[in-house]
Amino acid sequence: MPARAKAPPSVALAVEALGDTRSMPDLEWLAGLLDLPASDIERTLREVGDYGGFESEIRRRHLSKGREFYAQLAAPFELYTLVRMLRPAHVIETGVSSGVSSAHILLALAKNRTGTLHSIDLPTRQKAELLAEKESPVCLPPGCETGWAVPEYLRGRWDLRIGPSQELLPKLVGELPSVELFLHDSLHTPAHLAFELDTVAGKLAAGSIVLADNTNWTGLSFDRFAARLGRPVLRRGDTGLVGLRVGSSAAQSPPTSPAPAKRVVKIARAKRPASPSASRRRGSPA
Ligand SMILES: C[S@@+](CC[C@H](N)C(=O)[O-])C[C@H]1O[C@@H](n2cnc3c(N)ncnc32)[C@H](O)[C@@H]1O
Repeated sequence: MPARAKAPPSVALAVEALGDTRSMPDLEWLAGLLDLPASDIERTLREVGDYGGFESEIRRRHLSKGREFYAQLAAPFELYTLVRMLRPAHVIETGVSSGVSSAHILLALAKNRTGTLHSIDLPTRQKAELLAEKESPVCLPPGCETGWAVPEYLRGRWDLRIGPSQELLPKLVGELPSVELFLHDSLHTPAHLAFELDTVAGKLAAGSIVLADNTNWTGLSFDRFAARLGRPVLRRGDTGLVGLRVGSSAAQSPPTSPAPAKRVVKIARAKRPASPSASRRRGSPA
């Protein structure tokens, strides 16, 4: 039986309420990322069954703007579970759009009663009342702003920054003591992914998780990063979503100056890409 069929029935109800079967969670992938037996993870994953109203509300918001399905990340329930189990102090995501990934991270942080989500998004805007055939569904419908599907009651733990991650990510990372979960879902080019991974690397700790979506568009950037950390790349089926968990050996590499013990990762800086590409559409690499 395929791994994804193993999700508990309550989770299937949440998937149905959100209205997109792509979001059926991949337990085996989660188990690999967390290095725990699937049975331990299932207990936490099952919590999403308690939030049918939340999922329906996200779907309702999309439908009200003429969007039959949300713009991207296929793993909102895995994100919820990762945040519940890691209990991160700081999560960074690049690429928000309507905010399906953000909403699920924020829901888990609210349940944890601790932690902040720092999101960076450079939005594009829908040109007319209806989404044109050639327009990307990541663009904002008229009258909407980044994160338009995120319920207001979850925004207390949200540090949302609007602008290109080329400019905002280095500044944000410089402000944080650590990053326990990083998600790349912004401009999907090899150079940009390498830039984001390189920028965040110094704040990752042993046990931190790094995720990147649409790696089918970003060449070997993620694989090279993983190789430098000596960690395997864990792929969520053929969806292009990949992840790794930072290992303790990388975290124990001797610091060059006194620094918190859990700080990691010595890694060569990647070249900074030029200013944001004009093309930021799904379907083209952004
Ligand atoms: C695929 S969507 C994000 C989907 C979101 N993670 C989710 O699961 O709901 C990508 C977003 O990244 C934004 N983006 C593109 N280039 C960017 C850049 N250089 N910096 C920040 N955001 C960017 C796009 O405009 C879009 O809003």
